[in-house]
Amino acid sequence: MAGRIPESFINDLLGRVDIVDVIGPCVQLRKSGRNHKGLCPFHDEKTPSFNVNEDRQTFHCFGCEAHGTAIRFLMDFDNQTFPEAIETLASMVGMEVPREAFRGPKPDTELYDVLGAAAREFQRWLRGGEGTAAVAYLRERGLSGEVARDFGIGLAPEGWDRLKTALASYREQKLVDAGLLVRQEGGSRTYDRFRERIVFPIRNTRGRVIGFGGRVYGDGQPKYINSPETEVFRKGRELYGLYEARRAQRGLQSVVVVEGYMDVVALAQHGVANAVATLGTAIGQSHFETLYRHVNLVVCCFDGDDAGRGAAWKAVDAAFPALSETRQLKFVFLPEGEDPDTIIRDQGQEHFRALLDDAVPVGEYFLDHLRQGLDLDQADGRALLAELAAPHIRRLPQGALQDVLVNDLAARAGLDATAIARSARATLEPNHGRRRAETSRATQGLTIGNKPLLKYVVQYPQLIDGMDPTVRAGLADPADLSLLADVVRHLVEEPGMNTGTLIGCFVGRAGYDD
Ligand code: CTP
Ligand code: MN
Repeated sequence: MAGRIPESFINDLLGRVDIVDVIGPCVQLRKSGRNHKGLCPFHDEKTPSFNVNEDRQTFHCFGCEAHGTAIRFLMDFDNQTFPEAIETLASMVGMEVPREAFRGPKPDTELYDVLGAAAREFQRWLRGGEGTAAVAYLRERGLSGEVARDFGIGLAPEGWDRLKTALASYREQKLVDAGLLVRQEGGSRTYDRFRERIVFPIRNTRGRVIGFGGRVYGDGQPKYINSPETEVFRKGRELYGLYEARRAQRGLQSVVVVEGYMDVVALAQHGVANAVATLGTAIGQSHFETLYRHVNLVVCCFDGDDAGRGAAWKAVDAAFPALSETRQLKFVFLPEGEDPDTIIRDQGQEHFRALLDDAVPVGEYFLDHLRQGLDLDQADGRALLAELAAPHIRRLPQGALQDVLVNDLAARAGLDATAIARSARATLEPNHGRRRAETSRATQGLTIGNKPLLKYVVQYPQLIDGMDPTVRAGLADPADLSLLADVVRHLVEEPGMNTGTLIGCFVGRAGYDD
């Protein structure tokens, strides 16, 4: 385990990185003075309340209160851990991250005690008189008492201070720090976070409880509530079910990553004991790093819906840096409307195992996904395939796996493998000694995937081919384009404007009259 990163280095680093270069490729920002505005990536919104301040080098959302430095942004937006975020920023400006020799302070063991005690209370409540309805719900979903016990499933009963009372021997603040009690905004009162829910304890790989997920079993919203991030609970890294999977199978070789707690438990119920799930977050690079410390094969089996398919594609980029010849990744795509829980309940273990056996290797999925909408009979379609693939391939460590993918791509694209490898690597060169502006240009070069218009045109080149020549000429003219961008922004900010009002807004502006 590496030592601490010195505080002074972090300060130096934040002084060198420009937060706009970090956020710019991820969020479309519009400059206004020393501020940049955009749509907040941390909550759903239609008008921009997300601000990036160049002077202060911070971001702030007036809608959801998300705020912080470039480090916080990478941690929250990209699920990176603190050290990973530091590494990312350091590599952007060509710095090496130094490590101090000693290790950081030990995590607070009292938090583990409190969380363990809470888990025992919850389990006791499920078995007691108040648990009847919750037990009936679990049974109806096909779960046996034995599996419920293996996973330590419990019940948070009705009421605002049941756990608070049961754990009165602990300091109240510890219960708040553990995420079990919520402190009223601005007030001193606290109350139970989990109420009238079935609770799934989340355990780290040593079997200590670090948090909970709670599901409603009657009516009620939201369907799930999860523990917040705490000192011992890092959602970007932890996986539900990993401890149980390792306990169930000695010498665990592979895991199946699913989306939900219920999927994990239902699979275990039906004899597939190696399922894990992320904790209401997308799967990120750190999750894969955790997983590949324990197994060599990860099979992603997400829900058969748009969200599940989107999650699969995101998993590719998250996994690429962690892959190698021995660390494999595969995908199972379920029929529309199914999730692992429904599939195994309806079709049984054997059917599910057959799906796992037929899982698609990442390389195949990757190329199949990218080639959608491209015409590989055309030279430019093939060139585009190579271009679209390059920024992803550069995330793979150099080695045999990268070679295999590059060769595969070359075969499909009818291009020379060395040329592809070169273009993938061109973006990989470290930026040692370059100035920030150049660094940022290099980063921008990779972000075709975040430029919606560009991406659209790249995916559907026939759009431009079939376009009225005068319109096409306009699209190729930077002056025309910048005015177009302003008009579009205007329309986004004030939808429903007609031609007359629009002209009113833009007459007299340079470039408009001609
Ligand atoms: N999730 C969450 N908050 C929500 C909904 C979902 O944190 N309001 C997370 C939970 O970790 C959940 C996972 O996303 O397990 C998957 O959600 P979903 O597919 O809706 O739930 P299932 O696990 O399939 O649960 P169930 O079958 O009980 O509906
Ligand atoms: Mn489900």
